[in-house]
Amino acid sequence: MRLQKICLALVGFQLAICRNFYDQNGDITELSPKTFDKVVHRTNYTTLVEFYAPWCGYCQQLTGIMKKAAKNLDGIVQVASVNCDEAKNKRLCAQHRVEGFPTLMVFRPPKFDLNKGPEERLLLGNHASEVYKGERKLKPLVDFCVSRVKNYVTRLQKIEKLVQLLSQSNNSRLKAVLFSRKDKISPLYKSLALDWLGVIDFHVLLNSKLQASEDQLSGLSEETRDFLLDFQKTQAASETSKLVVFDTASNKHLVYDGTSFDKQSIWSFLSQWVEPREGISTKRQEYLDSLKTRSKSRNKKINKKKMTQEEKFAHDEL
Ligand SMILES: *[C@@H]1O[C@H](CO)[C@@H](O)[C@H](O)[C@H]1NC(C)=O
Ligand SMILES: *[C@@H]1O[C@H](CO)[C@@H](O)[C@H](O)[C@H]1NC(C)=O
Repeated sequence: MRLQKICLALVGFQLAICRNFYDQNGDITELSPKTFDKVVHRTNYTTLVEFYAPWCGYCQQLTGIMKKAAKNLDGIVQVASVNCDEAKNKRLCAQHRVEGFPTLMVFRPPKFDLNKGPEERLLLGNHASEVYKGERKLKPLVDFCVSRVKNYVTRLQKIEKLVQLLSQSNNSRLKAVLFSRKDKISPLYKSLALDWLGVIDFHVLLNSKLQASEDQLSGLSEETRDFLLDFQKTQAASETSKLVVFDTASNKHLVYDGTSFDKQSIWSFLSQWVEPREGISTKRQEYLDSLKTRSKSRNKKINKKKMTQEEKFAHDEL
């Protein structure tokens, strides 16, 4: 009865829309037993799931924060929800030992080891789940989710490591190296490593460690060595970060010259080499989009425009 009142107040006669909180939201996926595993477990992404009941007051209060968190985490952590009041979802909520509403749970993927064979990889289990017990406020929630993103970016501690990496005896995968002004690896960069996992390896080297003599670079091909000798002149003391992709098999490299470090721009740059496994333009993304209604994708565009800098703090530059 109470639910009906809220719904009537919100959308007049369109009761159906009120079945779930986020049916109209382009950033949050309402899950069911049919979609839960595929969305939450069959990915290298971390997922925040809110288990809720529409009649619960705390859940209603949380919707604003959930929507902002989802915008903030877009492309970095998946955000989904389960309406535990729906008959078809009751078992799913029980399986996850949901006892109170809202329950915020973060699902963290197992570490994927590229050096293991396909069979061993298949033995990797489901994601580990963890109940979020922190404050139900935007920043702590987003920070917690971001801290649960698997990191596949390797820090190169010194120039010798870069030389080792770019020598032809190293593996044949493409290598992205961020020559960085800061030590912290941004969530956005980690998410790129997730999208191209197994296809492009991602690394970071501090600008200040780029200085090298010709001797130190002698293990490299002529092209790569000449490039680095020239590049370090400006980059070693630079206050900005630069992303470079190296193809050690053909001694090619390409510097990202874009000024914008948003995911779409970097996707355009990296996908010239090879398509990602997850994220923009993949089959999986199509599937995720298909779980959202048409009105949802329209909403998403509108949402994007309205996103303020303050709301985007998880999208720190690289
Ligand atoms: C994680 O990424 C690897 C490499 O792309 C892939 O083989 C694996 O299936 C992914 N894991 C899941 C659960 O999708
Ligand atoms: C490839 O480069 C990485 C990073 O420097 C290094 O740890 C690894 O030992 C190298 N592998 C080979 C086969 O040279």
